Amino acid sequence: MDDLATTGKDWSASQYLKFENERTRPARDLLAQVSLDDPKRVADLGCGPGNSTELLIQRFPNAEVIGVDSSADMLRQARERLGECTFVESDLSTWRPTQRTDLLFGNAVFQWVADHPKVLQRLVHELSPGGVLAVQMPDNTKEPALMLMEKVAASGPWVAAIAQAAPARTDLPRPEDYYDLLRPLCRHVDIWHTHYNHIIENHAGVVEWFKGSGLRPFLAPLDAAMRERFTAKYIDEIIHAYPVRSDGRVMLRFPRLFILAVR
Ligand SMILES: C[S@@+](CC[C@H](N)C(=O)[O-])C[C@H]1O[C@@H](n2cnc3c(N)ncnc32)[C@H](O)[C@@H]1O
Repeated sequence: MDDLATTGKDWSASQYLKFENERTRPARDLLAQVSLDDPKRVADLGCGPGNSTELLIQRFPNAEVIGVDSSADMLRQARERLGECTFVESDLSTWRPTQRTDLLFGNAVFQWVADHPKVLQRLVHELSPGGVLAVQMPDNTKEPALMLMEKVAASGPWVAAIAQAAPARTDLPRPEDYYDLLRPLCRHVDIWHTHYNHIIENHAGVVEWFKGSGLRPFLAPLDAAMRERFTAKYIDEIIHAYPVRSDGRVMLRFPRLFILAVR
């Protein structure tokens, strides 16, 4: 079964990890802003294949670190990578820790969680006093790569299948909105954006990147032949939107929103 086929209902850990370094960089940048010295309980929300969990274990070797994810394939990979760590299969829209937690860390997950602002508010109540909610989400729905997915999806034999399936990502709320909903619950709220400029080998690489994330809602409802046609049309659009750089590679601009809230 090819990587994409496994993304029908589930995420594919191997597809996601094709760009592990680039995808883990925002997790490192987010963790660098967490000023806890000795947290006892840490949870990696949407832990994926364990790349972000590994950072947490390295930074806080004395903490009890758990990973939470809704994908069986991601959790299988995470357990293989970090055998000593506890991983829980659960949907973050309803998950609650069994005890107050000192750090709730969510790198690149809450953009997929329905009504996530409400979920973030609820999670603040699960923090111990002084505990930290640290979240990063791609804020890239207006980037050409994301707009072009919508454009390709809007015409072609796949229109009905995609329309019936899970909706693609919507725009994130504004930083001001996050501030207003978290500040009444928190003593400190810090929100910032970082625009990464990832260098990708070629246009096919850009498509591979998004097969592991943003393209999933578009490709998952399609059969293999249809996925190939969709992908071929998408890559044509990407070629026009992202000119090659002086070394023949492609620069993929990637804005991300970071939130750090201290209870
Ligand atoms: C983009 S990956 C992030 C992986 C890792 N945290 C990292 O830093 O690279 C997003 C992960 O969120 C998980 N996920 C998506 N929606 C979820 C939900 N509602 N509840 C729990 N996990 C979810 C996916 O299964 C996937 O593993």
